[in-house]
Amino acid sequence: MNIRKTAIITVSAIVLAASAYAAAHSPISQRKAAMKEIGGQMRSLGGMAQGKTAYDDFAVFSAVEIMLNNAIAARPLFADSMDMGEETRAKPEIWAAGSDFDAQMGQMINALQATLDADPADLDSFLPLFGAIAATCKSCHEKYRAPES
Ligand code: HEC
Repeated sequence: MNIRKTAIITVSAIVLAASAYAAAHSPISQRKAAMKEIGGQMRSLGGMAQGKTAYDDFAVFSAVEIMLNNAIAARPLFADSMDMGEETRAKPEIWAAGSDFDAQMGQMINALQATLDADPADLDSFLPLFGAIAATCKSCHEKYRAPES
């Protein structure tokens, strides 16, 4: 473990403390905030994947760790209700019999963890890992997220 990564873990602890603070809010607003954070980090990864910004292994590790923390935080916030009455794009299929929603959450978490484990040093090694992460977003959104109204 080098010093840079120790610093990231400290930042993650602050992120986790921030999500504990957010516990005052409803599960719907919390899970949307977590997804939004995941989306923001994904955009900076996408910029590097597309060659619009220079590859930076430190920035990748940091972004993926933030995404992983938010994915872990979001997972139980989809657990047990449809919370009608608050604006949400979560489709009722999430809670239907035979739903593989939670399994798909697990796949996203695994793809993020695999990227941290690989700690890709260059763009070529990052691209397949990025592709695997992006595939989990797309697959779940197609099935379980309603279009923006
Ligand atoms: C297991 C399913 C699942 C996976 C995997 C998933 N999402 Fe989502 N995402 C959802 C659902 C459901 C919503 C709608 C949440 C709501 O409105 O309550 C959502 C909402 C969002 C939003 C909108 C948040 C807002 O502002 O309301 C963004 C951005 C987003 N996801 C990005 C991502 C990215 C990027 C990934 C992949 C790294 C990803 N998601 C992976 C299910 C998933």
